[in-house]
Amino acid sequence: MGRPTESSTLTNSLTVRDNRTGKVYDVPIVDNSIQATAFKAMTAPAAPGEREENETYKGLRVADKGFLNTAVIRSEITYIDGDAGVLRYRGYPIEQLALHSSHLETAYLLIYGTLPTKPQLSVFEAEVSHHGVIHADAEQFCRSFRYDAHPMAILTSAFSYLGSYYGEANPSLQGQSLYTKGDAASLSIMDKQIYRLIGKATTLAAMAYRVRQGREFVTPPTGLSYTGSFLYQMDHLGEENYTPNPVLEKALDVLFLLHADHELNASATTVLQTGSSLVDPYSAIAAGCASLYGPLHGGANEAVIRMLISIGKPENVPAFIEAVKKREKVLSGFGHRVYKTSDPRSFIVRKTADEVFKITGKDELLETAMALHEAAMKDEYFVKRKLAPNVDFCSGLIYRAMGFPLDFFPVLFAVPRVVGWLAHWRQMMLQEGGVKIWRPRQIFVGASKRDYVPIEARPLVDGPKKTPSAIAHSGITKRTMLASFKGKVVPKL
Ligand code: SDX
Repeated sequence: MGRPTESSTLTNSLTVRDNRTGKVYDVPIVDNSIQATAFKAMTAPAAPGEREENETYKGLRVADKGFLNTAVIRSEITYIDGDAGVLRYRGYPIEQLALHSSHLETAYLLIYGTLPTKPQLSVFEAEVSHHGVIHADAEQFCRSFRYDAHPMAILTSAFSYLGSYYGEANPSLQGQSLYTKGDAASLSIMDKQIYRLIGKATTLAAMAYRVRQGREFVTPPTGLSYTGSFLYQMDHLGEENYTPNPVLEKALDVLFLLHADHELNASATTVLQTGSSLVDPYSAIAAGCASLYGPLHGGANEAVIRMLISIGKPENVPAFIEAVKKREKVLSGFGHRVYKTSDPRSFIVRKTADEVFKITGKDELLETAMALHEAAMKDEYFVKRKLAPNVDFCSGLIYRAMGFPLDFFPVLFAVPRVVGWLAHWRQMMLQEGGVKIWRPRQIFVGASKRDYVPIEARPLVDGPKKTPSAIAHSGITKRTMLASFKGKVVPKL
């Protein structure tokens, strides 16, 4: 904890002089980081005219909009060097895992910390496969969505729905230390939910896919790989001995492995924020899925294709680039909070795309994508901002070549990312010192104390953002609007 000292002889520390008081504080540096709580010791009287809400007497707060430089957990799972374009799962370079491993083997590695032996992997794969089956009632749940519901809305809801079957896995029912005890019973209940969530992620995603098509759901088959079973559940229409194409099955497995984890991205952080209240893992995973849905995150692979379709031919790329530079458009699939060079996954995705295109035929948008890539990589606007292609830039081209509908692309990101979310959730549940609820601070800049005003005496406050917008009631027909009835309110159009 920071404390006022005359002078500091410590080498691995920060010496902070608070010029409001002249006090000097030594803040220890551990693993190239300092505790934000050290700044709470740095108190000062309010400066003349300073708002009382700044609470200077309670110590300094550390502001970090968007978590640009705030570490919220100590993790052993994934390491990224954004400048060097390095990505390692538990120390193993992503390039080696993509070449030699499988999604489920990598899932074991991410969650339990080591590469499994053959027997360990067989048990893990068998458990995930065994837990792929869903309660029959889930069919009604999935059918309750309109056929054109966005599949991410179905998947996000389905994860939360899934939890309603497992009262034994719910800390709100079984006691808050259900997952934090770390004893054999607690670990066993944790592992069972991990098997269930990984196993059922593909089943739920396939059900969302079949809702769109208005087709019967397919019971997870035995004897197929994780992605093979997934493809079977999406595509089987009663054909005898139906076997997914091995090139597509392998390509999807590589893409799943690449998407399995990525350190504290927005969705993993959402899982941890939600999980920090010790809620059940199904609710935490549903929250992470909701976060991934956004176009700045997992929704970017869908946004990239919509962008390429809007550009059309390669000759339209220069005009699009100009529009991006004028901030009229966003170059989806480019830029990253951590990578300031090309995302290492994007090279593997590109190679996988070539394998897929060999049997599906090239996607006509590929030329536009390559022209866009080339133009952006040599344009000062993007070079200066260190914007390079991320994992989403090419992955959508593969999914399109495989014939997936556009709005299913984020689902193909969420399914494998369940592994990373679970790895981080498990790590937090078992961390040294137990789980502290995540409750960030704020800098309050709102109204100071003021007294209630009776409605008759209130001044009119109007204008954009200050009052609710007038909404046209589309569901009300002209005839109803012209009818008369008790309590009729004529909406302002
Ligand atoms: C994923 O976190 C993860 O690890 C995520 C992920 C994972 O595996 O979990 O890697 C997966 O989500 C990849 C990112 C997918 N999203 C997109 O492709 C959407 C387009 N990208 C941008 O929205 C943006 O790059 C972000 C959201 C990815 C990163 O945003 P940051 O770190 O907050 O950066 P920023 O918005 O502050 O941008 C810095 C500058 C700004 O310019 P200035 O205002 O300073 O002049 O770069 C510009 C931005 O305007 N910029 C872009 C841009 N991305 C950033 N300009 C044009 N096109 C872009 N894509």
